[in-house]
Amino acid sequence: MISKDLEKAINEQIKVEEQSSRIYMAMASWCEAEGYEGAAKFLYTHSDEERQHMLKFVYYLNDRGGHAQLQKVEEPDAKFKSLGDLFEEVMKHEQFVSKEIDKLVDLAYKEKDHATANFLQWYVQEQIEEESLFSSILDKFRLAGDHKGALYHLDRELGQRATAHQ
Ligand code: FEO
Repeated sequence: MISKDLEKAINEQIKVEEQSSRIYMAMASWCEAEGYEGAAKFLYTHSDEERQHMLKFVYYLNDRGGHAQLQKVEEPDAKFKSLGDLFEEVMKHEQFVSKEIDKLVDLAYKEKDHATANFLQWYVQEQIEEESLFSSILDKFRLAGDHKGALYHLDRELGQRATAHQ
C-alpha cells in the first residue's frame, strides 16, 4: 500500500505529465498552422508519449492501492516567436519535469518505498533520453538561426524522426 504523501505526489506528477501532453499538442498545432509540418508531426507524437507517461502513473498508483485523480490543468501557450524559440521552451519544460521526477525519487526513498523508487527509474532514464534528444535538436536550431533553408531542412528532419519513432 502506497503512503498518502506518495499518493499525493504521484497525483501531482500525473498533472505534470498531462500538462506536458497538452503543451506539446498546443505547440504541434502552432507548427501546423505555421506550415512546419515535420515539427508538427514530431510534437503530436511527443504529446501522445506524454499521455502514456501519465497513464503509466495512473495504472501504477491504482495498482498500489492509491487512487489516481485528474486535476485542473492550465491553458498552454498557443503562440511562439519562432520554431527555435518553441524548442527552447520544450527544453526548459523537460528540465523542470526531470527535477520533479528527482523529487519523487527522493520522497520514495524517504518513505522507504523501494517498489516505487524502482518504478521511478523508468522515468529517470526517460528524462535522460528526452533531455539529450531536445538538446541535440536545440543545437541545430541555434546553428540555423533565421536561415530559411536550414529551418526547412530541420523541419523535414523532425518529421522523419517522428515517423521513425512510431
Ligand atoms: Fe514525461 Fe517529457 O516528460
